Amino acid sequence: MYVVCVGGGYVGSVTGVSFAALGNKTTVIDISREKVDLINGGKSPIYEPGLEYIIQQTIGKSLFATTEYHCIAEAGVIFIGVETPTAPDGSADLKCVKNAATSIGENINKNKFTLIVNKSTVPTGTGEVVSSIISEVSGLIPEKDFSVVSNPEFLREGSALQDVFFPDRIVVGANNQIAKEIMRELYKPLVTRENYHKLCERYFNFEWETPEKLPIYFETDVRTAELIKYASNGFLAVKISFINEVAKLCEKLGTNVLDVAKGMGLDSRIGDKFLEVSSGWQGSCFPKDTSELYLLSKNYECELSIVKAAIDANFAMHRYVVEKIIRFLGCLNGKTIGILGLTFKPNTDDARKTQAEFIIPHLLSLGASIKAFDPQGMETFKKFNPTLDIKYCEKAEDVAQRADCVLLLTHWQEFMNLNWQEMVNTLKTPYVLDTRNFLNREKLQELGFCYQGLGVKSK
Ligand code: UGA
Repeated sequence: MYVVCVGGGYVGSVTGVSFAALGNKTTVIDISREKVDLINGGKSPIYEPGLEYIIQQTIGKSLFATTEYHCIAEAGVIFIGVETPTAPDGSADLKCVKNAATSIGENINKNKFTLIVNKSTVPTGTGEVVSSIISEVSGLIPEKDFSVVSNPEFLREGSALQDVFFPDRIVVGANNQIAKEIMRELYKPLVTRENYHKLCERYFNFEWETPEKLPIYFETDVRTAELIKYASNGFLAVKISFINEVAKLCEKLGTNVLDVAKGMGLDSRIGDKFLEVSSGWQGSCFPKDTSELYLLSKNYECELSIVKAAIDANFAMHRYVVEKIIRFLGCLNGKTIGILGLTFKPNTDDARKTQAEFIIPHLLSLGASIKAFDPQGMETFKKFNPTLDIKYCEKAEDVAQRADCVLLLTHWQEFMNLNWQEMVNTLKTPYVLDTRNFLNREKLQELGFCYQGLGVKSK
């Protein structure tokens, strides 16, 4: 099957590369010449473990990249995988999706049936919008000459390939029988895992956590599939906000949130995932998707108050981290805080809308100075926050130099093995606040640190 993927960002590049690895001739289209050149040169346009390796194995064979839309005329399946950022009113900005639909309409083959698959996260009803744009531009008849289906992505940055090749579920929203059949054929290798052994040997250059269970292939209508995506992200955000609030309560009660989360997670109805305490959830998905979901519910006069509560609890969690530092250090005017981690989670260079983006300005407004280090995200963080007065450090240990607190915001594995001895010696106050309950508390306490986590007893 000839697959074209409009968009070479997180969703588009991972989708395109994955279908190429599954043996489909695949072309990624992006308006950015730089991204296209990177892919054609065997480089990944994003930092995503394993992606570059697959690009190198497939480029020029089954994978191609271009800035031109002409290839759309040959495609059997066209994925839309472009960004849907938050508009100023909090809703999803569909400009890129609509542009993609227009370009597809201009280039679609009028002599054969084409399937358009929306993978971008879009509000309910967008499938119809895309369909009518393509129809208007091309003059073709929806559901006869072409069909638009919804196939939301559930990939997490940092483990995107694992989520594509070993998903829990594949959701396909289609209102057309031919469309359903094409989608089933396209996803057959992922659903049956036939020839997976060969695929894994050839394309995966690192260890995978391979679940026993085959993915569930779930078919529904287009509008429902679109909502499944938002409802899923909304629910996960609620889950994290819930455990974060419980963590605060644990501090009052003198109980341990790690055990509370473990005890809760043993109930299979609850599950143990997404119960890890943090300084709040962030990233390029949860904030925009919870915002859009809440707005959508309000527009339909059916307010999802629980999503609003999760959003509010999340901002409160960012503030709570600062309050906790104040409780320990007192007034922050003139104090130095050394920050470890600027990305919204480990194993990504994505530093859009991260916890640090909210916490750092708060600390600065209280008169603190900031030093920071991140293994992958310093450049992107700087790019998105050019006015923040931060001293970016060359190595992680440097954030501790003459600082009053080391604040861990992102649990990069390498932070576990820093030279903590050197850090305790160079800190003015040997205080570490580990917002992910990640570091080795006993070891740090032995070295003389005053260790605090979130929702766990300090001693
Ligand atoms: C999220 C969803 O998990 C994916 O299923 C979805 O496809 C994606 O959004 C998307 O819509 O594209 P992602 O944003 O990459 O994926 O990251 P997550 O792993 O979900 O983490 C989101 C935030 O929650 C991060 O800040 C993370 O640190 C935080 N988090 C996560 C916690 O604070 N605690 C947890 O237990 C889990």
